[in-house]
Amino acid sequence: MPSVSCALAAAAALLLANPVAGGVMPPPRDVARYKWLVNAGSNASEPQQVHASFGEDPMTSLQFVWSTRTAADTILRFGEAGKPMTSIANGTSTPFDEPVQFIHRAAATGLRAGTTYSYVVGSPAGGWSNVSTMTTAPVPGSPEAGALVFAVYGDMGLDNERSLAWLVKDVEAGAFDAVLHVGDLGYDLDSDGGLRGDAFMNSIAPITARVPYHTMPGNHEIEGGTFKAYRSRFWMPASNDALYHSIDVGNAHFSMISSEMYFAISEYGLLMMPEQFTWLEKDLAAVDRTKSPWLVLMLHRPMYCQDDDSQGDACHTLTNPTRVGYFGQYALEPLLLKYGVDLVVGAHEHFLGLSKVLYNNNASTAVMSNQTDGSILFRNPGAPVHILAGSAGCPEKLDVLSPTQPEWSAGAWDVYGYGYLSFPSASRATWSFRNDTDGSIINRLEFQQDHHGPFAA
Ligand SMILES: *[C@@H]1O[C@H](CO)[C@@H](O)[C@H](O)[C@H]1NC(C)=O
Ligand SMILES: *[C@@H]1O[C@H](CO)[C@@H](O)[C@H](O)[C@H]1NC(C)=O
Ligand SMILES: *[C@@H]1O[C@H](CO)[C@@H](O)[C@H](O)[C@H]1NC(C)=O
Ligand SMILES: *[C@@H]1O[C@H](CO)[C@@H](O)[C@H](O)[C@H]1NC(C)=O
Ligand SMILES: *[C@@H]1O[C@H](CO)[C@@H](O)[C@H](O)[C@H]1NC(C)=O
Ligand SMILES: *[C@@H]1O[C@H](CO)[C@@H](O)[C@H](O)[C@H]1NC(C)=O
Repeated sequence: MPSVSCALAAAAALLLANPVAGGVMPPPRDVARYKWLVNAGSNASEPQQVHASFGEDPMTSLQFVWSTRTAADTILRFGEAGKPMTSIANGTSTPFDEPVQFIHRAAATGLRAGTTYSYVVGSPAGGWSNVSTMTTAPVPGSPEAGALVFAVYGDMGLDNERSLAWLVKDVEAGAFDAVLHVGDLGYDLDSDGGLRGDAFMNSIAPITARVPYHTMPGNHEIEGGTFKAYRSRFWMPASNDALYHSIDVGNAHFSMISSEMYFAISEYGLLMMPEQFTWLEKDLAAVDRTKSPWLVLMLHRPMYCQDDDSQGDACHTLTNPTRVGYFGQYALEPLLLKYGVDLVVGAHEHFLGLSKVLYNNNASTAVMSNQTDGSILFRNPGAPVHILAGSAGCPEKLDVLSPTQPEWSAGAWDVYGYGYLSFPSASRATWSFRNDTDGSIINRLEFQQDHHGPFAA
C-alpha cells in the first residue's frame, strides 16, 4: 500500500493522464476514493479488478473476469491448491471505453466439486495477478453443502461502503463462501467516465478474487436502458448478459433476476420483461427439489417494504408490478406459490426488513415462534418469507422506517450491514445479519421445511 499522500498524487496524475476519449470527464467527487486505482494501475498491462463467479455447472466450472488498461493476452492458470498451477485456459478480451481498458474473460472447466484451486490471471508479457484461491460448489446433500454460507446484500457504493471492511475481514477468515449482491453496485459503475466503476471493482477485489461474486442489476446499473458498464464488467453463467441468471449451489437454487424490467418500460422497451418472465418460469419449473430443496428468488426492487413512502416506490403499493404484473401479465408473486419459492430477497430500500409468511398482502404468524436462543423459527411455512437487505452502505444513507408498520411485517431495522444465508440440510435453512456498527449478529432466523414443493393457493 502506498502512503495516502503518495496515493492521492498518483491518483490525480492518473486522472489527468487518462481523460475519456471524446468527452469531458466530470471531476470526481472525492479523489481519495480513487486510491484503489493506484495499486492496480501502476503497470498498465497488469491485471486489476479480478472477480469470479461460479460457471454454468458450479461444481465443475468457475469463470473469471479482469481488466488491463492496455491490450494484453487473456490467460488463466490454475491447479488444485497446494499443487503447481499447470492447467491453462485462454479466454477472450474485449475493448471497453468507460474508461478505456480491456476486459478479459476466461473459464476454468472440468474441475472437481468442493475443491479449492489456486489461480492467477494475466499474461507473460503483461504481468500476472497475485495468486489467489477459489473453490467449486460441493455436491448437494454433502456435509460441505450444509456448511456453505452465502453473504447477501444490496446497495453497496464506493462511498459510505459501510459493510466493506467487515466483508473483507470475513472473507479472510473464511466466514462465507460466495456473495450474492442484490443490485446497485458502486453508485454508479459508469460515473466519472467509469473511473468510479474501476475504483469500486478494485475496492471489492479482496472479496471478488477469493469467492464467487454473483450479481443482478439494480436501478443504478440502468445507464439509460443499456446496462452497459454492468453488462461489460460482470459475467454470470448461462445468462442474458448478467441481467438474469440462476445457479444451483449446495442445497439451494438461486434465481437472480432484474426487477428493472418492470419499471421505466419506455427506457428499456417492452420485450425484456416477457423474455425474463418466460425464462424465470422455465427456470423455476426445472428445479429438481431432491437436489436443490431450497428455492430463493432475488431481485433488486422488493415486492414489499416497510420504510416511508417519500420516494413513491412501488413496494409501498398494492399494484407493485413485480408482484401483480401489468394488466395481470408477467406477475411474479403467483410464481412463488406455483413453484414453492421459500425465500424472496430484495434490496433497493436501505434498511433490513423481514416479513411474516406472506402472499398477496396477506400474512400469517401461525408458523412463527420465538426460540429460547432469541432466534425466530418458521416451521413449514405455506408461503414465502420476504427479506429486504438493502443497507450494505451507499451515499444515500439509510431510509426512514414507516412509523406504522404494515400488518405483514415481522420487523424492520434501520441498520447497516449484510446477511448470511445457509442451508444446513434439505429441511433447514438459517439467516442472520451483521450489524456493522458494532459487528454484532442480529435477526437470527431459522426455517424448517419438511415438504418442499408448490404451496397451496
Ligand atoms: C492458448 O494460446 C496459446 C498461444 O496463443 C497457445 O499456444 C495454447 O495452445 C493455447 N492453449 C489452449 C489450452 O488453448
Ligand atoms: C509490467 O509487468 C510486466 C510483467 O511483470 C513487466 O514485464 C513489464 O516490464 C512491466 N511494465 C512496466 C512499465 O513496469
Ligand atoms: C498483491 O499482493 C501484494 C503483497 O501481498 C499486495 O501488497 C497487493 O496489494 C496485492 N495486489 C492486489 C491487486 O491485490
Ligand atoms: C389470508 O390467508 C388466510 C389463510 O392463511 C385465509 O384464510 C384468508 O382467506 C386470506 N385472506 C385473504 C383476503 O386472502
Ligand atoms: C416473539 O417476540 C417478539 C418480541 O418480544 C414479540 O413481539 C412477538 O409477538 C413474539 N412472537 C411470537 C410468535 O410469540
Ligand atoms: C447496531 O449496533 C449499534 C451499536 O451498538 C446499536 O446502537 C444499534 O441499536 C444496533 N442495531 C440493531 C438493529 O441491533
